[in-house]
This record gives sequence, structure tokens and C-alpha cells, in this order.
Amino acid sequence: MISTIDQVSIRRVLQREHDAARHQRSTRQAERRAVGETGPRPGPSFRDAAYYQHSYLSIGPDQGALLYFLARASGACRIVEFGSSFGVSTIYLAAAASDNGGHVIGSEFYANKRERAMANLREAGLDARVEIRLGDATETLSDIVGPIDFVFLDGDKSLYQPVLESLESRLAADALIIADNLDHLTGDPGDFRHFVTTQPDRYTTRLMSIGKGMFSVSQWHGKA
Ligand SMILES: C[S@@+](CC[C@H](N)C(=O)[O-])C[C@H]1O[C@@H](n2cnc3c(N)ncnc32)[C@H](O)[C@@H]1O
Repeated sequence: MISTIDQVSIRRVLQREHDAARHQRSTRQAERRAVGETGPRPGPSFRDAAYYQHSYLSIGPDQGALLYFLARASGACRIVEFGSSFGVSTIYLAAAASDNGGHVIGSEFYANKRERAMANLREAGLDARVEIRLGDATETLSDIVGPIDFVFLDGDKSLYQPVLESLESRLAADALIIADNLDHLTGDPGDFRHFVTTQPDRYTTRLMSIGKGMFSVSQWHGKA
């Protein structure tokens, strides 16, 4: 039996969206270099539309494959995503949800991005598996009914910890939590990297460099 992630309609949408994201990223990097900007950007707030509203900022294919396999192999049925953008990561999560008989609740602050994400999911044949909630995820994800099996954090990094803490009471035993861009965080007290790597009684965590970024992969053990 062919896995959902290998269906032609899904591969086609992912290929196109990954290509477009790569092209947008390299164009923007060239523009920054031209005006003398180098190094990582300071983390903007999600309300900074100039940075967020039209940018993919999406995970790469290797990261997507890892998300798919982790969600699929753990049998995750109730999947939550913080930061859906144009739906690239959402497609990987929805493919796993489809194979597992589950669903994804995503979140996105910008209406144009949510619309485009849902169009991509429709084209991939996965829209029936996904609801993307519009608005600030610290509010829109607050009434999700648990148990939640799998969480992907990829929105405003300063909100990873509050979003995850707000979901904790509804996490399933042994839920998996994946977060992107851990290389942008120092690991000092007060940031998410510190939060998930220094409480082994609550979260078993490893950091993994993959593709163009760094994931944290954590397993939840319940409140200490
Ligand atoms: C890095 S991008 C997500 C990329 C996406 N996960 C993918 O791989 O295709 C971050 C997205 O999160 C959204 N976002 C950031 N903070 C948010 C918040 N508080 N509530 C809802 N969406 C938020 C941004 O608008 C942006 O589209």
C-alpha cells in the first residue's frame, strides 16, 4: 500500500512549494547582502507583517520527512501546529494524520496565508484532515480538546513556551513535541531551548540539526 506522502498530488504540491520557498529565500538573502545586512535577523514579532505576511519561512523537505515519519510511526491522531504559513509543514503532518486516521489543527495569524495553505491542502487532497485556526495562536489553540498526541511549534519563537505550556494539560502521555529553529535560541534561562532541555522529568529532549535548521524533539512525561 502506498503511503499518503508518496501520492502524486502531494509530491507535486510539495515540490512546487519547496521550489518557490527556496527561490524566495535566496532572492531575499541577495537583497539583504546588497544593502550590507549579514547574519541572522533579530527575531521579529509575528505582528510584523513586512516580515511574516508574504514569506514562506517554511521547513525543508528533510525536516518535512522527519515530521511525517515521527508522527506516522508514533501513531499520532491528534496533531497541533503552531505557525502554518502556506501549509508546507501542514501537508507533511496531514499526510501522517491521514495514514493514522487522525486530523491536524493548525494556526496562522494572517488570513492570506491561511487561505493559501488551505488551497494547497485541497490540491493535495488533504483538506478534510485539517482545520487552520485564524488569529493569534495563544488564543486560537486555547480550547482544543485533548488528548493531543503531537505538537509542531514553528510560529513566533518567543511564544513556543507559552503555547506549549497552555497545551500541557491536554497532552497525551508520551506526546511528541517538535520545534523548529532551536539554533536561533541561546539556551539561556527564560528561553524555550532552556525550558525543554533542562527538565528531564517533564521532557526528554534532543536537538537535531536537519536540513537548513535545527529541531528539538521532545517527549512529554507529564507534570512533575
Ligand atoms: C516559520 S513560519 C511557519 C512555516 C510553516 N510551519 C511551514 O513549514 O510551512 C511562521 C508562521 O507562524 C505565523 N505565526 C507566528 N506567530 C503566530 C501567532 N502568535 N499566532 C498565529 N500565527 C503565528 C506567522 O505568520 C508565520 O506564517
